[in-house]
Amino acid sequence: MDLFTAIETRRAVKHYDPSAPVAPEAFEKIMQATLRSPTSYNIQHWRFVRVQDTTLREQIQDAAWGQTQITEAGELIVLCADTQAWRNQPQRYYRNTDADTRRVLLEMLHNFYVDQPQRQHDEALRSCGIAAQTFMLAASGLGYATCPMIGFDNDKVAQLINLPKDHIIAMLITLGKAAKPAHPRAGQLSLSDVLVVDRF
Ligand SMILES: Cc1cc2nc3c(=O)[nH]c(=O)nc-3n(C[C@H](O)[C@H](O)[C@H](O)COP(=O)(O)O)c2cc1C
Repeated sequence: MDLFTAIETRRAVKHYDPSAPVAPEAFEKIMQATLRSPTSYNIQHWRFVRVQDTTLREQIQDAAWGQTQITEAGELIVLCADTQAWRNQPQRYYRNTDADTRRVLLEMLHNFYVDQPQRQHDEALRSCGIAAQTFMLAASGLGYATCPMIGFDNDKVAQLINLPKDHIIAMLITLGKAAKPAHPRAGQLSLSDVLVVDRF
């Protein structure tokens, strides 16, 4: 599918065909595309929890105001991030670079994040947002539907998936075959409402 068609057809789909699993090769392709998303200093701090345990899905649904797409969709991802990835074996983020470049990048990376908990948190969420969009557009391009979700009790879901210390949850994303199309677009702002030239 053409990229702009995939962008146009991506919608937040709430109703899925529970009998239609996501093809394994499609899941792999969507994930590999997602891993091509950019991250500051290439730290790739996203972590994708693929929820396959049906009981766990039901428990997450209970922690998310009963949103039915959580158990109906073929796949559920809890999109998380490791806020400490910047200091967790950072050499691996530059393993294909020459030694001098690697040394410079490691020093810059350290100085950028050390003693900056707010930045560590913000950057993790920023990266997850970009990864989520890649995931959803790749899915759309392959004819699958998605829904990003923040309507859940963060602490409960964190407990259910054994979220490690220093990790955060950015959002849930469902992936599957749509059973019903999304509602018509609720009210998009026009470009002139949101485009600012030079200064506010
Ligand atoms: C970060 C984020 C969180 C969202 N959380 C939920 C949610 O918990 N439940 C839900 O049904 N839709 C959720 N949505 C979907 C939005 O309502 C939807 O994207 C928006 O209304 C625009 O519609 P569209 O995505 O179909 O263009 C969320 C979207 C985003 C980006």
